[in-house]
Amino acid sequence: MPQEFSPTVTVADDAAAAARAAAEIIAGVVRDDPRACLGLATGGTMIPVYAELAAMVARGEVSLAQVSSFNLDEYVGLPPDHPQSYRHFMNLHLAGPAGMDPARMEVPSGIAADAGAEAARYEAALAARGPVALQLLGLGGNGHIGFNEPGSDSDSRTRVVTLDARTVADNARFFGPGEEVPRRAISMGVGTILSARRILLVATGAGKAGAVRAMLQGPVGPDCPASFLRLHPAAQVVLDRAAAG
Ligand code: GLP
Repeated sequence: MPQEFSPTVTVADDAAAAARAAAEIIAGVVRDDPRACLGLATGGTMIPVYAELAAMVARGEVSLAQVSSFNLDEYVGLPPDHPQSYRHFMNLHLAGPAGMDPARMEVPSGIAADAGAEAARYEAALAARGPVALQLLGLGGNGHIGFNEPGSDSDSRTRVVTLDARTVADNARFFGPGEEVPRRAISMGVGTILSARRILLVATGAGKAGAVRAMLQGPVGPDCPASFLRLHPAAQVVLDRAAAG
């Protein structure tokens, strides 16, 4: 049995306070190393986190100008300028507002002719540049991290994945009526994520309470991929009261 650790858990009053706490942790890593390589995430939970970071940059409290980053995942089939692509999300919410250099922000390509080869290229690029100093994570309602759906193992690496029906339904809110939600993505694996020096998972809202409980108190295993964070010696979880339920 691999050794298990207890992630540090912080419960903030509400989602805004959780976002401030998360942004402060990220800024701390960058203040320690202004050229840090960060692992970044997308999703609704990250929007206020990145807004807080951008506000800290605007106040001169931290600079992200020298930082580089690797994102967790991208939808297969979406070009970088598609409004729902994760590349577009990063440009919109972080690069522009927080003064990051988009050329130093790696996101898997959703339109590579060979998605499997793109996944392998991404894993190799991360291994060459990494380890990332801090990997930021959201949490899927089914316990996924990145797009590592239930069934993903702790040694999985960047690969093409098929999204769960629940994930497709959860993410449909971001797409227009009648617009098809992608069913496949390129995602860092659980093993890729666990290679980071530190991990910070942020979850807010009552809809995440079940997944939070499974992550922290359920068995460590592929039924809840986020539970594998308990195999990492430096994992931190920031919740709001609703998610801590
Ligand atoms: C997507 C992303 C995940 C994210 C999750 C939760 O599936 N691939 O990285 O954590 O959504 O998103 P939200 O924060 O919008 O609830």
